[in-house]
Amino acid sequence: MQKLVIRGEKRLSGEMTVQGAKNSALPLLAGCVLCSGEVTLKNCPSLSDVFASCRILNCLGCKSRYHDHCVTVNASALSECAVPEDLMREMRSSIVFLGALLGRAGECELSFPGGCELGPRPIDMHLGALAQMGVQINEEFGVLCCRCPHGLHGAKISLSFPSVGATENIMLAAALAKGDTVIYNAAREPEITDLGDFLCSCGARISGHGTSTVAISGVSSLHGCEYEVMPDRIAAATYMSAAALTGGELDLKNARACDMQAVIPVFEQMGCQVFTYENRIFINCKRPLKAVRTVRTMPYPGFPTDAQAVVMAALTRARGTSVIVENIFCSRYRHVDELVRMGADIKTEGKVAVVEGVKRLYGARVRAADLRGGAALVLAGLAAQGETEVENVCYIDRGYENIEKCLRDAGASIVRVTE
Ligand code: UD1
Repeated sequence: MQKLVIRGEKRLSGEMTVQGAKNSALPLLAGCVLCSGEVTLKNCPSLSDVFASCRILNCLGCKSRYHDHCVTVNASALSECAVPEDLMREMRSSIVFLGALLGRAGECELSFPGGCELGPRPIDMHLGALAQMGVQINEEFGVLCCRCPHGLHGAKISLSFPSVGATENIMLAAALAKGDTVIYNAAREPEITDLGDFLCSCGARISGHGTSTVAISGVSSLHGCEYEVMPDRIAAATYMSAAALTGGELDLKNARACDMQAVIPVFEQMGCQVFTYENRIFINCKRPLKAVRTVRTMPYPGFPTDAQAVVMAALTRARGTSVIVENIFCSRYRHVDELVRMGADIKTEGKVAVVEGVKRLYGARVRAADLRGGAALVLAGLAAQGETEVENVCYIDRGYENIEKCLRDAGASIVRVTE
């Protein structure tokens, strides 16, 4: 068991390089299954979820190797279509292997990802869309057995909600399907654009990715390519919150402001100055921070649910009352009780959290219950008086590469302790 021990009240300043995006790297790694040549993915973050994806690829008979933020995958020897249950359990996003395996092999067996720390996460939209493309799905004892007896074919698919995972699975399955697929009400997240760009670099014919209508014309094969994973907009938002909470200033390299149009204004409303350049964001914060009226999580281009917890951490110290409405997941306030233990004044009812800014947070022993909520506790610890211990670091490691080193290099006092 590892924990992070933080001595708070140190102002952060300096330069930081933002990691590659986890939420893009994982579907890209699944997409490698479709390619007959070697794929090299650069700027791949060094994260437990990335290594789990590589293990899945190796179990399927592909050859994958991670070296210094670069993953090479050769899927030409794919020999298996079943993802082992323990690897499915390790990360929810393993569900994107479904579309990729169906696209490549026309069959797939994997265990149902089920609920997770954010509450129930159904996949009915993924399965409904794949059924439209000719997939027969049987579920027995939590295992999904999918086959396409007559091959995968294109379809016109209307999603009832712009689901990120469903859009990714359909794009992956459709890239090698017979004929044309159109996704209406597709998710528009930048990670979808990245997946579409990657697949096009491998020879896929996809247009409209990044808009709500994505069109895919199936091709007979995909080749390898070299591709650079986009910067992680959620990690960037996390470090911006760290600067805000400590009254600091950070120069974030490899950060793309164009992907953060709903996030940057929230920091500006808090009173931070934000300057954006190509692939770089500079944030300068003076305390006291100001409350913001309402932050509503929405599908992109709205405010991302993944940034809700880390922005809430900053708002605990903002003068006045801020309101957060979490519209994507029903159980995404598990960090609130822990922030309250540190002196925050937050009340939740259903989707809504009301944050009254306090003058001071106090160090405490707290426990991460999920990835972004865990990061929020680390941020609160940076601003708190005294010592904070954040337990269950394994959650945070799923999404942040060496978070303690990034923060320490900018002046924080934070160490990892193995018990
Ligand atoms: C979601 C987030 C994504 C984030 C990721 C990890 C959105 C729209 N999606 O992606 O930004 O990076 O979590 O935190 O913000 N749903 C169904 N049936 C389905 C699929 C989804 O009912 O088949 C519902 C979910 O319960 C949820 C919502 O749709 O309420 C969003 O789902 P989706 O975008 O698919 O989730 P993820 O792909 O996990």
